[in-house]
Amino acid sequence: MGEGERDMGRASSIQIWQYITAIILIFVLSFHLIERVPGLSPLGVKSYEDSVKIEPVKKAYSSYGWILATLLIVALFHGLNGLRGMLLELRQGRGWRIFVEVLIWGLFIIFGAWGLRTVLLMT
Ligand code: HEM
Repeated sequence: MGEGERDMGRASSIQIWQYITAIILIFVLSFHLIERVPGLSPLGVKSYEDSVKIEPVKKAYSSYGWILATLLIVALFHGLNGLRGMLLELRQGRGWRIFVEVLIWGLFIIFGAWGLRTVLLMT
């Protein structure tokens, strides 16, 4: 098996996660946007503006912080992995590939940890 074929195998095995996270996002992101809609919101808000005020937001974190944490990790992975794919197609070469992997996973860890910190502080 040539170097190219091995690379393709590696790319497609992580690519399956792009589809899995897309499907999860349909659910958690719909839920997150429904939080803002009077009549549908689990926060029982009377208007969109109400839904971004501190009391409902605190209630959101304390009653279903895990959904927001899931949204955080899944959306972050999906966005960064999409960017990773584009960057890897843009240029070839070992140095570039290492740079892209370190950049993407570094950003994932930093933003993920920062976001989870918010979830933990608010729950
Ligand atoms: C109309 C659009 C949006 C509004 C008004 C909005 C508003 C908010 C508010 C008020 C919170 C605090 C928690 C809560 O009340 O649920 C929050 C948290 C969050 N939102 Fe959004 N959001 C919007 C769109 C999005 C989109 C499109 C994404 C991702 C694709 C997203 C990802 C997140 C994440 C990950 C958190 C939790 C962050 C953390 O605690 O670390 N939001 N959003």
